[in-house]
Amino acid sequence: MVDAISVRLASTADADTVEVRSLLALAISTGRVGGTVADCIANGIVLLAIVEGRVVGCLCLSSGGLTGEWRIEAIAVDSGWRHHGIGRRLIREATAHARAGAVVAETDSDGVGFYARCGFATISLGEKYPGVQRFWCHWSV
Ligand SMILES: CC(C)(COP(=O)(O)OP(=O)(O)OC[C@H]1O[C@@H](n2cnc3c(N)ncnc32)[C@H](O)[C@@H]1OP(=O)(O)O)[C@@H](O)C(=O)NCCC(=O)NCCS
Repeated sequence: MVDAISVRLASTADADTVEVRSLLALAISTGRVGGTVADCIANGIVLLAIVEGRVVGCLCLSSGGLTGEWRIEAIAVDSGWRHHGIGRRLIREATAHARAGAVVAETDSDGVGFYARCGFATISLGEKYPGVQRFWCHWSV
């Protein structure tokens, strides 16, 4: 664990930085980064994890949809800072923001164990794309 992780909301200016864009490109395709961040700032929240003055993690949460649940569109932690509790802390802040609402995410076989460790129920969606198994992850109070 890292002693001093702080988490704050990202502004549009933060979201335009190379730091944030490169982090999110670890989780979603580069072409989707700009649109995802803009949508989440407008209709949800973007959280930044800061350690030693540097942005080392980012989570994009959108709200709405027909069922009104919150959805994690992307979460990424700098590869040099993984396994220090930063991802879990971002998830905790996101679920706190959602209060009594449900939080959902779709991920692949690399990410599903992380969501399970963070308290999400996970279910396989099967091979959604050729050769790629996807998982649905669900958290509620
Ligand atoms: C997934 C990711 C966000 C995890 O961040 P992290 O800061 O390393 O996670 P934490 O240290 O908070 O780990 C929380 C728990 O999950 C576990 N965990 C972390 N990554 C895991 C993984 N890939 N598979 C299984 N478990 C994992 C940790 O061991 C820890 O478990 P424990 O404390 O209960 O023993 C990070 O690996 C990452 O950015 N990956 C690339 C992008 C990505 O795949 N994003 C998810 C899909 S959008």
